[in-house]
Amino acid sequence: MSEYPNLFSPLKVGHMTVPNRIVSTAHQGRMHSGIPGDRHIAYHLAKIMGGVGMDVVFAIVSVHQSSPVSSDQAVAGWNDECIEPFRQVTDALHTPGTGAALICQITHRGRRARSDSGDWRPAIAPSAVSDDLYRGVPHEMDSDDVGWLVDAYAAAAARVRAGGFDGVEILGAYSHLIDQFWSPLDNLRTDHYGRNLEGRTRFSLRVN
Ligand SMILES: Cc1cc2nc3c(=O)[nH]c(=O)nc-3n(C[C@H](O)[C@H](O)[C@H](O)COP(=O)(O)O)c2cc1C
Repeated sequence: MSEYPNLFSPLKVGHMTVPNRIVSTAHQGRMHSGIPGDRHIAYHLAKIMGGVGMDVVFAIVSVHQSSPVSSDQAVAGWNDECIEPFRQVTDALHTPGTGAALICQITHRGRRARSDSGDWRPAIAPSAVSDDLYRGVPHEMDSDDVGWLVDAYAAAAARVRAGGFDGVEILGAYSHLIDQFWSPLDNLRTDHYGRNLEGRTRFSLRVN
């Protein structure tokens, strides 16, 4: 009797049924610059053929220009140019028919976004609190900013779906925008997107 009797049994996750409990979590393989290439596909094909049941194929796809992508890792998810490359990857990874669920992770880096790259937009965050690592003081988001950012997450998720993915993962870790809202150290707001736990989770619930 296996110590892990459920490991190779299917699991229902939302609308998907994944073939087993083995997940390859999000990470940038740094094998593509913007547009994914053959190495990226071969890397993930090897995982799927090796038995991964759920594979996060892209990490930190950016939902908006105010969180620009760097040349050696993330993909821009804020316009339709990502759909065709996504489709190439998902077609290649669905083809073997293993049933593995293909996931794309999306995010906005908030105050951790570079304001000296892309089209040089100011970094935005729940409050004008500088990040220990990235230093710059971000622009505090107003309620309009919250509105268009929620829409940007939704639009990026729609592109992920149009690109053939089975699901989308919204990054809420690593001090990106979502968890900047959650943290009382980063979120000093006094409106209904701050103040208490209910307020600090409101942005993420709207995105969700
Ligand atoms: C090089 C590298 C890059 C990663 N990039 C991401 C990322 O972009 N998004 C994310 O959610 N997690 C990222 N992670 C975290 C992993 O998905 C995973 O949660 C973490 O490595 C712990 O799992 P492990 O003990 O199996 O390594 C990264 C990890 C590594 C090692």
